[in-house]
Amino acid sequence: MLDIIQSHTSTLLNGVILTIKITFISVIIASILSIPLSVLRARSELYFKLPIKAFISFFRGTPLIAQLFLVYYGTGQFRPFLMDIGMWAFFRDPINCALLAFTLNSLAYQTEILRGAIQSVNRGSIEAGRAMGMKSTLLYRRIIMPLAYRLAFPALGNEYILMLKGSAVASVITVMDLMGQTRRVFSQTFDISTYFIAACLYLLITTGFVFFWHQIERIINRHLVY
Ligand code: ARG
Repeated sequence: MLDIIQSHTSTLLNGVILTIKITFISVIIASILSIPLSVLRARSELYFKLPIKAFISFFRGTPLIAQLFLVYYGTGQFRPFLMDIGMWAFFRDPINCALLAFTLNSLAYQTEILRGAIQSVNRGSIEAGRAMGMKSTLLYRRIIMPLAYRLAFPALGNEYILMLKGSAVASVITVMDLMGQTRRVFSQTFDISTYFIAACLYLLITTGFVFFWHQIERIINRHLVY
């Protein structure tokens, strides 16, 4: 184990950096997109509801690895079309494909989390806003969304951690994230402690994140009173 740590530290750390980058980028893009999507999903009009529901069902109901293959190998089937629109090179980069699949997957989960939170916001607070003459947009911005985010906060933290661990499947389409680097080191050394070190590194990242998330949660709870 010590020799693995000695001779492969920088390789594994490069993997850690790529894992954090991929997870962070997809989760942040999904967080931004989940705001309009969850608001539309929470509304009752069918023409909003149905397509969003179909999107969520698909991305929550199928394995992440299948989605990853669909994006990476699926786009490989449309070479002439993708060349025409100049997207061929983009989809031949496995990192881009992983980013796209993870973003869509996390978007589906985050939209559901946020939709649940929006619908659980205390009616009284909404009525109070209405009574003050707030229109729908202002009501969402000032009352519904801040309260919904506080309700959704623990579930969102959970989602980010699941995504971080789930990102390990990117290694099957040759992405050299932490799991990708670990698999390479293992194939060279056949030393099982490589996987143990990788597990410890994943644990370190998630523990660091949980600590950070708890701190933010404490700050939010201190400042938001209702
Ligand atoms: N491993 C699960 C899957 O294969 C989880 C994927 C990511 N989970 C999430 N909450 N975004 O589908």
